Amino acid sequence: MPSAQTSAAPQPDLSGVPEWQPALNPTACEHQVCWLNGAFVPLATATVPVLDRGFIFGDGVYEVVPVYDRATFRWPEHRARLRRSLAKLRITDPFDDAQWTSLIETLVARHPWADQFVYLQVTRGVAKRDHSFPNPEVRPTVFAMTSPLTPPSAALRASGVSAVSLPDERWLHCDIKSIALLGNVLARQAAMDGGALECVMYRDGQLTEGSSSNLWVIRDGAVIAPPRDHRILEGIRYGLMAELCQAQDIPFTVRPILRAEVESADELLLSSATKEILSITQLDGRPVGHGDQAGKPGPIGQRLHDAYQAAKAGATQAGAAPSTSAPVTMP
Ligand code: PDD
Repeated sequence: MPSAQTSAAPQPDLSGVPEWQPALNPTACEHQVCWLNGAFVPLATATVPVLDRGFIFGDGVYEVVPVYDRATFRWPEHRARLRRSLAKLRITDPFDDAQWTSLIETLVARHPWADQFVYLQVTRGVAKRDHSFPNPEVRPTVFAMTSPLTPPSAALRASGVSAVSLPDERWLHCDIKSIALLGNVLARQAAMDGGALECVMYRDGQLTEGSSSNLWVIRDGAVIAPPRDHRILEGIRYGLMAELCQAQDIPFTVRPILRAEVESADELLLSSATKEILSITQLDGRPVGHGDQAGKPGPIGQRLHDAYQAAKAGATQAGAAPSTSAPVTMP
């Protein structure tokens, strides 16, 4: 059979088109390694086959796990969500709990930062392009990298962030932490184009979430949360927010939230693994809140932020104990 490409084979005429260069400046992550399908390799040059279904279809899931002082924060909850996302897409979980934990611990240990966020991604694997699942099943692609985690600065917390309202145009399985994030990407870009950092999305007149964060409405001293259903990703900070409210004696209510309630909120908060708990102080160019509190981070957000910091510190102390678990071999 003739080979698909030889030196004598015809080439397309692309004169005038600049030579392709990787967009990533390799020095930006020079000393970083990532885990790719069974080995640690340099992040800057790690590659996956073009027929990976993650590349072709966005057919995969991911997690973002914060690490403080080298200890994971809420890892069992992230692990459980990863398992749920994989199960919903019927992708075989490549590792058991101990193997995932060992992978993360090793990755974190190989990087110099005390605070990191670990990105995990599993795709359905590499197969000839066909929308239906490969049959027989192929081996999932497993990728993990880590980056320095810098929580929002004191200045950003003091000013709060601005957001814009947008219709939620994403699919109806937002509970799956899928790598197919085009709806989220476009929403975030629309926010940036509008001079804001995040968006506040609505579906059928009800609040859903931000492009990469959960949203919280504060009214009359209570935190109100949109229901955790298929319309939002249940952030790991969702359960934590409920716990913090309980510990702080702040009423916590889960119910559909109308746009008018968001627009007349006393405070608006967002939460995510990397942004922690942050106040939204401007919405569509108008200050959030009332009276002399308008446009400023409010007291409930401040209390929850402080409680979050205390939870982090507690987890770090607990995680500082020497690990007694036996080393684990990864398949
Ligand atoms: N995003 N909703 C969406 C759509 C998200 O992408 C995220 C997190 C959240 C909050 O989830 P958690 O509390 O588990 O971080 C809610 C991550 C940080 C990201 O995509 O980078």
